[in-house]
Amino acid sequence: MASTVYGVARRPASCSGCGVNLDAFRPQPELTGPNVILRQLDGSHLDDVLKTVRDPEVRRLTGTHARFTEPLLARWLESRPEQDGRADWAVTHREDGRFLGDLALNDIDADNESAAFRIALAPGAVGRGYGTEATRLVLEFAFETVGLHRVSLEVYDFNSRARRAYEKCGFVAEGVLRDALCWEGKRHHAVVMSVLAPQWRLR
Ligand SMILES: CC(C)(COP(=O)(O)OP(=O)(O)OC[C@H]1O[C@@H](n2cnc3c(N)ncnc32)[C@H](O)[C@@H]1OP(=O)(O)O)[C@@H](O)C(=O)NCCC(=O)NCCS
Repeated sequence: MASTVYGVARRPASCSGCGVNLDAFRPQPELTGPNVILRQLDGSHLDDVLKTVRDPEVRRLTGTHARFTEPLLARWLESRPEQDGRADWAVTHREDGRFLGDLALNDIDADNESAAFRIALAPGAVGRGYGTEATRLVLEFAFETVGLHRVSLEVYDFNSRARRAYEKCGFVAEGVLRDALCWEGKRHHAVVMSVLAPQWRLR
């Protein structure tokens, strides 16, 4: 929150102001790493995303209670390319182009130079480094091209693989949302993690 002096908003001295380049999202770029390419998520990914959001283990790890009908998900995917304030990518394999999962930078807040991050790999794609690589690509874009200062996420405390992947990308735990998830009769905490541009550059 900006501090105020006699009601006049004042930015903290360390804040460079609105240095965020939202044009970097128009058009949303492809991001290429050694093993994955991140491409605009859209209606062509319906079958793959349906399989992922209906997978019981992915649903548990992401705490997803919602039931997705095919028409609803199709409309949501088709509307991704027109979105302002968020960017959705399909994670694809660099060699054969197969779908590995999807991720997003959402809640992009230009005034505060911040955004949130989420990712869900498809069941067969986990544990091979693709998620860590994709997350690093998005952070590089967020900090070096868009000019964001902070990227944050929430992860359930039982999701050790995700927490480890995020730590490898520079995220640090900054707090706990107690009993944030109720899953099959048990409550679980969510851990809030964030990575800031200056620390990310020092990694
Ligand atoms: C979370 C996710 C993005 C991580 O990506 P990934 O490509 O599967 O992860 P990686 O293969 O890069 O592994 C990351 C680290 O976790 C470790 N790891 C793998 N499986 C693990 C497990 N079951 N428990 C603990 N650590 C594990 C790996 O060894 C690696 O650490 P290391 O390099 O120090 O050995 C991906 O697994 C995923 O999307 N899972 C399904 C949905 C989900 O959990 N989304 C996140 C919700 S917040």
